[in-house]
Amino acid sequence: MRILLLSNSPSKWMMRISSRYFSSIELPKFYATPIFYVNSVPHIGHLYTTIYADALHRFTRLCHPDAVTIFSTGTDEHGLKIQKSAQSKNTDLSTYCDQVSAKFRQLFDDASTSHTHFIRTTDNQHKKSVTNLWNILVEKGFIYKSKYCGYYSINDEAFVPDNLIRTNSAGEKISIETGHKLEWYEEENYVFRLSQLQDQVIDWIDNRLIMKPQNFHTALKADIRNIKNFKDVSVSRSKSRLCWGIEVPNDNSQLIYVWFDALTNYLTVAGYPNHDLTVWPPCHVIGKDIIKFHCIYWPAFLIAAGLQPPNLVYCHSHWLYDRQKMSKSLGNVVDPFDCIERFTADGIRYFLLKEGTPHSDSNFNIDAVKTCLNAELADTFGNLLNRCTSNKLNPQQYYPQNISLNEMNEILPESMETIDYIQNLSKQCYQAYSDGNFHIGIAHVMTGLRLVNSLFNIIRPWELPKILNNEINQKRLECLLFLSLESIRIAAILLKPIIPNISTSIFRKLNIQPEFCLWKSAEMNVTQHELYSHHQQLHVNRISTEKLIIFSKLI
Ligand code: ME8
Ligand code: MG
Repeated sequence: MRILLLSNSPSKWMMRISSRYFSSIELPKFYATPIFYVNSVPHIGHLYTTIYADALHRFTRLCHPDAVTIFSTGTDEHGLKIQKSAQSKNTDLSTYCDQVSAKFRQLFDDASTSHTHFIRTTDNQHKKSVTNLWNILVEKGFIYKSKYCGYYSINDEAFVPDNLIRTNSAGEKISIETGHKLEWYEEENYVFRLSQLQDQVIDWIDNRLIMKPQNFHTALKADIRNIKNFKDVSVSRSKSRLCWGIEVPNDNSQLIYVWFDALTNYLTVAGYPNHDLTVWPPCHVIGKDIIKFHCIYWPAFLIAAGLQPPNLVYCHSHWLYDRQKMSKSLGNVVDPFDCIERFTADGIRYFLLKEGTPHSDSNFNIDAVKTCLNAELADTFGNLLNRCTSNKLNPQQYYPQNISLNEMNEILPESMETIDYIQNLSKQCYQAYSDGNFHIGIAHVMTGLRLVNSLFNIIRPWELPKILNNEINQKRLECLLFLSLESIRIAAILLKPIIPNISTSIFRKLNIQPEFCLWKSAEMNVTQHELYSHHQQLHVNRISTEKLIIFSKLI
């Protein structure tokens, strides 16, 4: 394997790997989720955002085990929305934020996410970073004071433009995009000159940004074409309304707008303003509801400050519950802690990434979770493992090795198409995962495992020893065990970003050396010629006696 560091690539924080196992797509080394509002406890949609980013991060690590990577997540704790939540619960603001933030942290730990940073906007270091960015934008003339008025959505923490407002039957103003109620605001604010950056932001969206999946990029391009003139945005709020936030430097009557504060978290994670931004820009993973903030405001703030805007954004759609939008008022939010308890961390991760499609909304339903996990983790993956580690078929509990393609072809000609499929899996998964399409990669792995399982039905190995205890039958059984165990090892590698705990226990059970648990080893260890076989020897031959159930069937 050769790793090429591309010095003239758009970001030096991307790597390209060149080997026959990889395509030449670059993988980022800094992934960031949005930071989560602490106005209420997490639901399954929040967990999805983080698991999705986690799978990307784990995938990168599996491909580049020696690279130093960053994966950040955290909580967004300032602003009116949070202030109102704490007040409604009669809790002091700081205690309230501590409590809810801790829930998010707990959830991500329970869900086995691999984040390296958990940031809170109430951290002192973050406050410094926000104040610093603010001062630079003031110095560069991008922030001015002015009267600002408009309809504001507390829930979205944003002013809503006239063309996106409707009036409901009760005469209230409502945001067409989010359905949230609006309030009229009129106050002195600090305002950011977004209008001046229109051309640069559009140029970045059109020519520099890579957004996955493509449908969101297409929609964003169409949206910005429809806005004739970018309006300047208010970036502070009067303290007469809001008490919970970071003060505007040199003006204690105003607090910094919560989105300005929140977006800056990515800079804080990168060490700003104390360290050089050696890890910049991040690759963002966001839900479709916050595209405007990450793909219009955020690049504008960065360009204005002379910093590089992100070049890769993964965007995902939403989880519905029984085909309806999840919302607390409808009482249909799914509790992610419950899900982990019922289905295990790997179980719920598998379901979310297999059944969630980033380009369009997906439907959450408990029966669908059970059906998916039973059919795929228990009956397909688990079944194959049980078959080839059973005492009946594998009384010596060993992992055959040194089998060449020629031998396989001669002894088990029925397996050739399956081998071909398994040998292509890592390439297909690489493409799918780097596109953010975990559902596609996982489906390929499951197809591979089903093909191997069906070989058992064709070859009927349980009858082989009975037919004749001859050498050929022994060899056939050996080849089948080899193919099956290798397929399990490969599936465990390719699914490690999705089901890290299951993969780790499979590696342990099969006694696989660490170097054979990496992405570059996700190919069957067959050789073209027997001559070379000793070079490629797998350093495993015994299966451990530990009992392993990949996934207990749910009833
Ligand atoms: O927007 N399905 O925070 P947030 C899938 N604090 N994803 C969902 C979802 C659902 N039903 N509901 C929410 C904020 N999400 C800001 C971000 S970043 C500088 C500031 C996702 O707690 C949503 O799409 O409202 C977003 O990616 C994440 O949860 C956080 O949402
Ligand atoms: Mg939200």
